[in-house]
Amino acid sequence: MTGLLDGRIAIVTGAGRGIGRAHALELARHGAKVVVNDFGVSLAGEGTDESPAAQVVGEIVAAGGEAVANGADVADFAAAEALIGQAVETYGGLDILVNNAGFVRDRMLVNTSEEEWDAVIRVHLKGHFATLRHAGAYWRAESKAGRQRDARVINTSSGAGLQGSIGQGTYSAAKAGIAGLTLVAAAEMARYGVTVNAIAPVAKTRMTEGAFDTSAMALPEDNSPVVAWLASEDARDVTGRVVEIDGSRITVENGWAHGPSADAGARWEAAEVGPALRKLLAEAPEPESVYGA
Ligand SMILES: NC(=O)c1ccc[n+]([C@@H]2O[C@H](COP(=O)([O-])OP(=O)(O)OC[C@H]3O[C@@H](n4cnc5c(N)ncnc54)[C@H](O)[C@@H]3O)[C@@H](O)[C@H]2O)c1
Repeated sequence: MTGLLDGRIAIVTGAGRGIGRAHALELARHGAKVVVNDFGVSLAGEGTDESPAAQVVGEIVAAGGEAVANGADVADFAAAEALIGQAVETYGGLDILVNNAGFVRDRMLVNTSEEEWDAVIRVHLKGHFATLRHAGAYWRAESKAGRQRDARVINTSSGAGLQGSIGQGTYSAAKAGIAGLTLVAAAEMARYGVTVNAIAPVAKTRMTEGAFDTSAMALPEDNSPVVAWLASEDARDVTGRVVEIDGSRITVENGWAHGPSADAGARWEAAEVGPALRKLLAEAPEPESVYGA
């Protein structure tokens, strides 16, 4: 143990496998007590299984750390509230929320069913909102009671959400939404002592193994030191940021920013929009290409 997170209390969602599991082990290694959440679903989000979360708890305890399992579906609003409650009841509070749970149902947009759209948007976007909402309410109550915590949220976006990815329209929309949610949550929750950032990880897991050539891809645990630092007290001045992690490289994502602009002084004539907009587009940086395009 390094002491970076000594005495801190954390929840990691979707921590039974893949990247979430690596985050839970890393936070525990740095001294955090961890609630290991996992609904135990298939890659496409089907079924439930309590054993992945229990196994990770076993690994943490065997290494001398403290952890408990939680089997909630993070997108179930009441279950997400109970998850926050479990951390508070078991360990006496909550300092760190790592939102990571999710699954994919990749399809070209024209083949995407309503059910696939709803399921993927629900698990990522509502799954981030539900835990963030209840943790935020807890931190606001603590702050108002004069016990402000030095709290951290680390959300999980994706290059698919930031740059776009062919065949992943639904997933890209959800992950772009998570980036936007991160900005608003950071601005709203600063007054309660909470920072909110997001990572865009890369790792060879069951999620990428079916879809990409993963032979040279980073490992889940390559992402977790960044999460551990963002979760630490040292990171209290960093908020509203998205950091991409690809193996040993970390990159600050610039996000949406106002670029070149023109003001007509009165409502635009449609025929004048073309030349004006083309001039601005020529001045603006070229957008990065969509993955797979
Ligand atoms: N692997 C990558 O390269 C990559 C890239 C960008 C973003 N991500 C994101 O990182 C996160 C982790 O992905 P991974 O590659 O480790 O996938 P994974 O499938 O290995 O792990 C995801 C875990 O989340 C759990 N989960 C799914 N739905 C849940 C729910 N409703 N409630 C609680 N737990 C649930 C699953 O049971 C699983 O254990 C996801 O949000 C994913 O979109 C991954």
